[in-house]
Amino acid sequence: MSPRPWRDAWWDALYGPDGFYRRDEGPAGHFTTSAHGDLGAVLAEAVARLADETGVCRVVDLACGRGELLRHLRGCRPELELLGVDVVGRPDDLPDDVGWLRSPGGSLLPDDLHDLDALVLAHEWLDVVPCTVAEVDDDGVLREVLVDGDGSESLGDDVTGDDRAWADAWWPNATPGERVEIGLSRDLAWRDLVSRSLSGLTVAVDYGHTRTGRPQHGTLTAYREGQVTETVPDGLRDLTAHVATDSLGADEVVTQRELLHRLGLISATPEHAQASTDPLAYVRALGRASAVAALTDPNGLGGFSWVMTRHTRGHA
Ligand SMILES: C[S@@+](CC[C@H](N)C(=O)[O-])C[C@H]1O[C@@H](n2cnc3c(N)ncnc32)[C@H](O)[C@@H]1O
Repeated sequence: MSPRPWRDAWWDALYGPDGFYRRDEGPAGHFTTSAHGDLGAVLAEAVARLADETGVCRVVDLACGRGELLRHLRGCRPELELLGVDVVGRPDDLPDDVGWLRSPGGSLLPDDLHDLDALVLAHEWLDVVPCTVAEVDDDGVLREVLVDGDGSESLGDDVTGDDRAWADAWWPNATPGERVEIGLSRDLAWRDLVSRSLSGLTVAVDYGHTRTGRPQHGTLTAYREGQVTETVPDGLRDLTAHVATDSLGADEVVTQRELLHRLGLISATPEHAQASTDPLAYVRALGRASAVAALTDPNGLGGFSWVMTRHTRGHA
């Protein structure tokens, strides 16, 4: 295959007919997120509390994988109306009362997603919206990075137009060898998602960076079967890059640690005496405490950004 822009190769590798995210095993077959297992149960509690705080009784989980978080939400809050959206058909074993919409993928959203009055959560979505990858050449010129079918890279044309304007505004860089992951496609995808709501709250959760701390050498990374692997656009691995959160234009960006604390999710070890009076409850409480600690770890998952925009009824 001849070299082509990373953005296009990335798109086909994840969302093409044989794209990674269409594979039977789903993302959970290759990597773990906070939506899975014990962490997922606590994340669901946080999402339910945020829905309460927002005053909505509906949660839309956009980019929901195979519905892992939705199952936790159904377990902890049976009264919430739930809708999952992802690029595959509805998983057979999803609880019957959880709705499902199929989406085209990447920056594209389904037409049927509109007029929402809900907490719309996009957990680890924007990082898999393909973006233009650029690199500063030896003359200080920002050029698009091209990739071959085997992952080898070369530099293509100068970055121009809207991508260039985005880079100048949000990630100016003239140091040879440094990379810029141009966030325009993520900004547009976020704006589209926000526009689908009439009331409620739209939230994106991702590893992110802001103008004061952009990564110098890019963050494009691949995962396959639990391992970080070479970035090859072959449809056999995930391809992800951190998100420039400041250019999204959201109302508020807080760390996961700050938000969970605000929602009252604080890691507290159970009283030791409970170990003999109610050993099962003690073990459950210990598990929950360690999940809360992991989700709020300032050097780990607690550093995730929660990007939020509120909606006033009738105004998207
Ligand atoms: C990194 S996984 C995250 C899955 C889940 N939210 C979690 O945190 O475990 C990204 C997911 O986004 C989905 N996705 C990407 N673009 C999408 C879109 N436009 N609409 C719906 N789902 C999308 C992928 O199919 C994949 O399941």
